Amino acid sequence: MITLVTTLLLVVLSNFTVEGARKTYGVADSGSNDNNVKLFVFGDSYVDTGNFINSPAYKPPYGITFPGHPGGRFSDGRVLTDYIASYFNIDSPIPNAFRNESNIQNGINFAHGGCGVYDTHIDGPNLTAQINSFEQLIQQKLFTKEDLQNSYVLVNAGANDYTTHVQDHKFFDIPKFITTLVDQLKTDLKRFLSLGVGKVAVSLLQPIGCLPLITNIDFHLSCIGLLNKVSESHNKQLNDAIEHIKIEAPGANTSFVTLDLYTAFLSTLDLMMKKAARDGNSSSENAIESPLKECCVANLGFECGDMNHHFGTRLYKVCGHPDVYFFWDAVHPSQAGWDVTFPLLKPALAQLTQQ
Ligand SMILES: *[C@@H]1O[C@H](CO)[C@@H](O)[C@H](O)[C@H]1NC(C)=O
Ligand SMILES: *[C@@H]1O[C@H](CO)[C@@H](O)[C@H](O)[C@H]1NC(C)=O
Ligand SMILES: *[C@@H]1O[C@H](CO)[C@@H](O)[C@H](O)[C@H]1NC(C)=O
Ligand SMILES: *[C@@H]1O[C@H](CO)[C@@H](O)[C@H](O)[C@H]1NC(C)=O
Repeated sequence: MITLVTTLLLVVLSNFTVEGARKTYGVADSGSNDNNVKLFVFGDSYVDTGNFINSPAYKPPYGITFPGHPGGRFSDGRVLTDYIASYFNIDSPIPNAFRNESNIQNGINFAHGGCGVYDTHIDGPNLTAQINSFEQLIQQKLFTKEDLQNSYVLVNAGANDYTTHVQDHKFFDIPKFITTLVDQLKTDLKRFLSLGVGKVAVSLLQPIGCLPLITNIDFHLSCIGLLNKVSESHNKQLNDAIEHIKIEAPGANTSFVTLDLYTAFLSTLDLMMKKAARDGNSSSENAIESPLKECCVANLGFECGDMNHHFGTRLYKVCGHPDVYFFWDAVHPSQAGWDVTFPLLKPALAQLTQQ
């Protein structure tokens, strides 16, 4: 039985790719940035706002809520980066793919959908390579020391590493892989100290056992605990690694906080499930079958956004009300999902601002 479940998870997981984003209009260019804060973003599709040009995020139905058309975000609307930028009173930083000398006043977003700490099966820069690009721009003196000391860094990476690891059929090495991965992540994070960045926010891993792609195997009835344990173990080790960075560099001018996506997702989903149970099978058009179900449901073996090019037909179905769904597609929160998650991350950001 256990073997069967594990095999199922393997099959399901092997299709699980957190992809990310292309060109986005209307967010990054409004100009005013009085407090001279900049945000530099690294990682995957949860934070990419447009670097992944040939991805589903540039196809319908992505972007229907914001900016109103496919704009390179892996959601119907805004993603975590947009919420964090607005918390700092700046517009979302320009994706690196569209950077020029006059649009970097809010920082730069280096994140690329589908990427990880290590190389994944996506043709995009891993975390080290993303930080290398940042370092090159610092060497070219695009940012002053003061700029960097006033800057924030956001790092959200890791989920795609687990996917890739499992795709490569090494499921049973997972405990060892977690340790190796967190170690590499720690090496990457330490670079922000020598680069002179003032404040760094690092996402903890979301509960991967709650993603619709995974819960699909039992009709979205509940999260798969075995996989959430992977997230828990990753997060515990990552928290420890960050504590060690602080201890190893006592006089450093770089502060770190973690953004607990794990707890934020779980507590939100838990509330939604309780509400759904209370409301029962009400026939309201806003009622959803399960908070663990996504709005954009792909046909078996396909992804949200896929088309049958021969017949010109969609290989997915979109719900009527993305605003009542936590998940937009099989792995990404909807804008509504980020809307309810973000307030739970604010205390950590407040702590970072005060340091
Ligand atoms: C820089 O990019 C912005 C869009 O982000 C565009 O409006 C502007 O014309 C570009 N400037 C230069 C100098 O290329
Ligand atoms: C990241 O990518 C670079 C460039 O492709 C490669 O040299 C490096 O080994 C990779 N790093 C990791 C940690 O996978
Ligand atoms: C931290 O900043 C202070 C003031 O700019 C500087 O004197 C000190 O050397 C910095 N510490 C490190 C470890 O860079
Ligand atoms: C759900 O619908 C069925 C049939 O209409 C009804 O018997 C049942 O009481 C409903 N359950 C709840 C929790 O509302």
